[in-house]
Amino acid sequence: MSSRHDVPSVTLPGGGQMPQVGFGTWKLRNDEARDAVLAALDVGCRHFDTATMYANEAEIGEALENSGIDRAGLFLTTKIRPSDGAKAGAILRQSLRALRTDYLDLWLVHWPPTHKAESRQLWNELLELQAAGHVRDVGVSNYSLSELDDLTRSSGQTPAVNQIDWGPSLYDAGVLAGHAERGIAVEGYSGLKNTNLDDPVLAKIAAAHGVTPAQVVLRWHLDHNITVIPKSASPERIAANFDLLGFTLTPDEMTSIDGAAGR
Ligand SMILES: NC(=O)c1ccc[n+]([C@@H]2O[C@H](COP(=O)([O-])OP(=O)(O)OC[C@H]3O[C@@H](n4cnc5c(N)ncnc54)[C@H](OP(=O)(O)O)[C@@H]3O)[C@@H](O)[C@H]2O)c1
Repeated sequence: MSSRHDVPSVTLPGGGQMPQVGFGTWKLRNDEARDAVLAALDVGCRHFDTATMYANEAEIGEALENSGIDRAGLFLTTKIRPSDGAKAGAILRQSLRALRTDYLDLWLVHWPPTHKAESRQLWNELLELQAAGHVRDVGVSNYSLSELDDLTRSSGQTPAVNQIDWGPSLYDAGVLAGHAERGIAVEGYSGLKNTNLDDPVLAKIAAAHGVTPAQVVLRWHLDHNITVIPKSASPERIAANFDLLGFTLTPDEMTSIDGAAGR
């Protein structure tokens, strides 16, 4: 079993260390959300991903506070909907209150606003709120490389992170290289959901390492330097999804999983 001390992390420009294995919470509500967060903490996970849109920040905050784990040892991400852009300060205060903390490790724009001008305006609001000290790092989600460049040009500050839909079936070396050139950390979401876990290529690789196809998919992200945030409501799967550090994939295995984009 991996320990939280072994999990690799990415150093973000604001100084935060983002653990590359986190826990996604979309669709987890009420007791299921509280229990899942506690199960994830129990296996050593310290990075939690939520969003105002998930309507579960309060349950997550409650579980984290009740766990008694020191806030400094946690990495908390939430996201603002572009439609809330006009009241970003109030939304941030609401997220902080719900998560029972006085700062976020990472705050993301959940998806790009329709118009460039709105996108730039919201990004500048995030930067101002970051400067005020309640957010360590700011980033975005679901942005293309040209949308990222537009924010950088308009503000002089590049998003720390882009959280994007990812998985072997969406693999695109050009997208990864583009983020690396810009110094933007990639977080992949829905990597399990986007994958046929019965794929014989994955099954063969999983058998060779004595792990599950889901663990192979998550490890494939890490070996591409992509942070993962798998969601599960099952304690067994939560434990398995965090247990990724006892094996690595060979270059040939990586290439054959990358090839799933064309299968
Ligand atoms: N920024 C965005 O726009 C955006 C969009 C989507 C997601 N996200 C974030 O990314 C997180 C992850 O994405 P996701 O929740 O869409 O998908 P995911 O983590 O790829 O997959 C979750 C699904 O896979 C199942 N599962 C989990 N572990 C498994 C395993 N080891 N073997 C087989 N099945 C497994 C889960 O079922 P059980 O619960 O029954 O285990 C659930 O149905 C979200 O929770 C959210 O935090 C962000």
